[in-house]
Amino acid sequence: MNVGLIGYGYWGPNVAKNIYANKNLRLHTICDLKQQRLDKAKSLYAEHTGYETNYEKLLNNPDIDAVAVAVETSSHYRVVKDALLAGKHVYVEKPFTSTVKEAEELSELAKIRNLIIHVDHIMMYHPCIQKIRELIVSGEIGDLLYVEAMRMNLGQIKKDVSAMADLAVHDLSIIDYLSDGKEPFYIKAVGEKKYNPKESLTFLMLRYYDFIAHIQSSWISPLKERKLIVAGTKKMVVFDDMKPSTEKLTVYDKGVDVIAGEDVEYEDYAVKTRVGDIWIPYIQEQDALYNSLNHFARCISTNKHSDSGPEQAIRVLKILEHADQTMNT
Ligand SMILES: NC(=O)c1ccc[n+]([C@@H]2O[C@H](COP(=O)([O-])OP(=O)(O)OC[C@H]3O[C@@H](n4cnc5c(N)ncnc54)[C@H](O)[C@@H]3O)[C@@H](O)[C@H]2O)c1
Repeated sequence: MNVGLIGYGYWGPNVAKNIYANKNLRLHTICDLKQQRLDKAKSLYAEHTGYETNYEKLLNNPDIDAVAVAVETSSHYRVVKDALLAGKHVYVEKPFTSTVKEAEELSELAKIRNLIIHVDHIMMYHPCIQKIRELIVSGEIGDLLYVEAMRMNLGQIKKDVSAMADLAVHDLSIIDYLSDGKEPFYIKAVGEKKYNPKESLTFLMLRYYDFIAHIQSSWISPLKERKLIVAGTKKMVVFDDMKPSTEKLTVYDKGVDVIAGEDVEYEDYAVKTRVGDIWIPYIQEQDALYNSLNHFARCISTNKHSDSGPEQAIRVLKILEHADQTMNT
């Protein structure tokens, strides 16, 4: 399957590398407005792919079956729409679009044209996140109590999106994936907007029917953190993406047990903390971006919806849009 990549800035090279590495996909053309970015690509791929500055030309090429979109988020809607109108399947970077309205329009267009849209909610394709889901589905960690996510670093401060839209989108897609698409009924965000037209630091609080979540997203932190705590009634899991691949996931047999009998008044309930084994499950090393692109390829060849298709992306965007409205109110 021939794929054209649109956008070869910071992230596009990673997408190109993983398309190139996938035997089901062929990196047909790389497109970027900037010649210097294409020169960079040429130094890696030479004659193994084509180069283009005008994405319309790429879209008009009948040999290209699908496009991967890695331009700035504010341009996703325009580029994805043009790609769908040109009859191409679309892989698009997160977040899908800037608004729910745009996402719904693109979703409809893809349905009408029988085309696949796959949004790169990359963390769903991370083997550690897949393992956490396995632990939830098997009942090993018990009922979900809370999810705490931290994604922070110094920079890179973007202008067209807030840190929340850029970073919390990962954590929201993880929660959606782990909870089988549950949606929160309470959403509240606070943020700091000092260096950017949009917030560079946000704290997002969510209340789902049976658990709560807190998501911290920051471009103004002295520390680089990529951490997720998923706490259940039986066990608690910590995913630390800054650690080496064999040590990223830790399962704690820790929790709180209720030890009172059935007919005791609520106030008389006694609880006891429980501390047990700490376990590091073996996780086979896999590249999440490779897996994400591979899922896209499989969806096209089997004509199946993507697990991170528009339906899921719209659920995630609805939370972000609502959170944005509550910002600092
Ligand atoms: N999945 C992830 O973990 C992850 C990580 C980083 C970025 N991203 C996403 O990737 C996307 C790109 O982010 P980035 O940091 O690489 O941005 P960037 O600004 O570094 O790169 C965007 C590139 O697109 C090019 N471009 C813009 N409009 C174009 C057009 N009309 N035609 C051709 N080229 C065009 C620009 O010249 C630039 O080189 C964003 O949506 C971002 O959220 C995803």
